[in-house]
Amino acid sequence: MTRFVLATANPAKAREIKEVIQTEYEDIEVIPLDPSWPEVIEDGATLEANALLKADAATARALIPALADDTGLEVSALQGAPGVRSARYASDEATDAQNIAFLLDQMRAVSAENRAARFTTVAIAKWPDGKILLATGSVYGVIAEQARGDAGFGYDPVFVPTEGDGRTFAEMSPVEKHKLSHRGRAFRSLAHKLVDLERSV
Ligand code: IMP
Repeated sequence: MTRFVLATANPAKAREIKEVIQTEYEDIEVIPLDPSWPEVIEDGATLEANALLKADAATARALIPALADDTGLEVSALQGAPGVRSARYASDEATDAQNIAFLLDQMRAVSAENRAARFTTVAIAKWPDGKILLATGSVYGVIAEQARGDAGFGYDPVFVPTEGDGRTFAEMSPVEKHKLSHRGRAFRSLAHKLVDLERSV
């Protein structure tokens, strides 16, 4: 059994990572981040840099391998914004509801045909000796004109995946979201790499 510390203070994200990775890789034990550890300042220029900052901090504290991710939402009509600034789109301390309201406001003049968007997650496993495994996952969709649904977190109530049936991620069960989502894809890919690594040693 390999133990990893989960480098996120967001319980909704932690639950998703745990559910996805444990479905693919049974020999993994995932332990939560100690809430007393200082918050990581996510000031990297890319999703990968921010995921690494989180993984570095967690593995240095816990002295065991860490799993981390960073996610960005890119909207075509906004020239790729909010991107790496997705968490702080409305303001530095923005809540999910404030970010959604700001996004819908920025897009109020954008027609239904021009609301394309993409979520991307960079998932990282990092060991205390510096070894790293990295995987990415993306999902294409559109930004809804109004928020719909109560499940999930972040921008889920306004993201309608293209491969779905018209529901937002916040109107889906966790299993339905994982099948299509950026995080589901990134952590399934990372889990396969972890299984390959285990088999090779
Ligand atoms: P971070 O990866 O936690 O830094 O997330 C960046 C931003 O994207 C935050 O506003 C999150 O709430 C949002 N976000 C991350 N993952 C998801 C997701 O699966 N669905 C919707 N929003 C997300």
